[in-house]
Amino acid sequence: MAPAVTPPSHQVCGAETLDGLNALHRRVIDEILAAIAALKGPEAVARLDGDLGRLHLVIAAAEVGFLRDQVLEALRGDLLRLAVQVGRDVLGWTHDFHVDDYLILRVNLPYTVARRATASDENPGIGRVSPSVRAIAASRRVKDPVYDPQSYHKGHPPPAWAHGPHLDSWAGHSRDGFNIWWAISEVPAETGMVLYPELADTPLSCDRRSLYLNAGHPLPPPTFLPLAAGQMLIFDPEILHGTHLNVTDQTRVAISLRLNAAEPTFDPASFYAREFWRTAGAIERGEADAVLHLKREDHLSLDAPRPVPALRRPAPITPLAVDGSTVRIALDHPLAKGERLDIDLGDRRVLLLGTADGLRAVDGTCPHYGLDLIDGGLAGHRLHCPGCAIAFDLRTGRSLCADLTLGVHHVHQTDSEVAVTLDRAPDA
Ligand code: FES
Ligand SMILES: [Fe+2]
Repeated sequence: MAPAVTPPSHQVCGAETLDGLNALHRRVIDEILAAIAALKGPEAVARLDGDLGRLHLVIAAAEVGFLRDQVLEALRGDLLRLAVQVGRDVLGWTHDFHVDDYLILRVNLPYTVARRATASDENPGIGRVSPSVRAIAASRRVKDPVYDPQSYHKGHPPPAWAHGPHLDSWAGHSRDGFNIWWAISEVPAETGMVLYPELADTPLSCDRRSLYLNAGHPLPPPTFLPLAAGQMLIFDPEILHGTHLNVTDQTRVAISLRLNAAEPTFDPASFYAREFWRTAGAIERGEADAVLHLKREDHLSLDAPRPVPALRRPAPITPLAVDGSTVRIALDHPLAKGERLDIDLGDRRVLLLGTADGLRAVDGTCPHYGLDLIDGGLAGHRLHCPGCAIAFDLRTGRSLCADLTLGVHHVHQTDSEVAVTLDRAPDA
């Protein structure tokens, strides 16, 4: 039976709400340190000096998988019990709900480190199902002809991937779940989760090539969720959410768990499903081997498909004239704050924005994955990338990552035209 009271779409909890959370947090850190000692020796643990943010200084991206194996298996029972505790004590679920058997140890190395990893290394959001169901889970893997994450991530190795905005049901989760995102290291805003709760009631569409939001949805500025080490975010993953690219110099470590109010069902449009689950009752009774296999084909959702939005992004503007590095477009009114125009120059795009400081012109695509910045949320003089949420300063083009900078162009408006002087002439 589903709970009568709807929990908030997201909330932050800590040891004040969950008995024993601090002790389990300490055990997670101890297991990570034990794994590092086994892998690299006690000197590596000493070099960390108790700070998981320094993890990238002692292990390579290729070694993160070993950490996952060690930590998740040592603590599987404790983590599943924690998930049940959250369901009972935070969400108020008194019935026999479901808990995902797939546990995730998220290790996000700093972007500048992660991008030097190799294509065979694991992506930061990988987890593990119980050993007893691993073979059958592997046999259930399917390759979708459309899904192509490498293309979205523009050749970056998997450890450098950052989740674009998405709903979890687009990627094989049930619609009625709640996620637990537990910060094991400190999580500053510039490497944390971002949410877009303002869009909770807005129809959104999925790009099946990436399983992220389609281009053409204007986003508000992201809601940032920095967490102290040991705090957890509990959120409805059908609220649009993503990950801020880790532009800090610290490794970020988190654990993700997932609860489902009822028996999970899967969106027929998703080519795969999270099929391995436990019940809260079986976890409470200590039934370690009680893993349910909910086959996708037997558990397709009968819910009405969500409305598909009509994306009506205006076509990019073609310049009236290009004279060296100066581009002129017809425009007979000042752009209102937040209003944008996309100028197509063939080899590049330029974005004109109305801001509180007047008209601005910057590169129209993100230097990271090449997404169209016209969809990004504007907050004062900062434009947030609609992919990984990083903020570009419209005055300087800079972000917190020195490798990710936008070209900023001089702009001059007359009664009938805007002239944009580019940092270099468009290719002929
Ligand atoms: S696409 Fe990742 S920062 Fe823009
Ligand atoms: Fe998600």
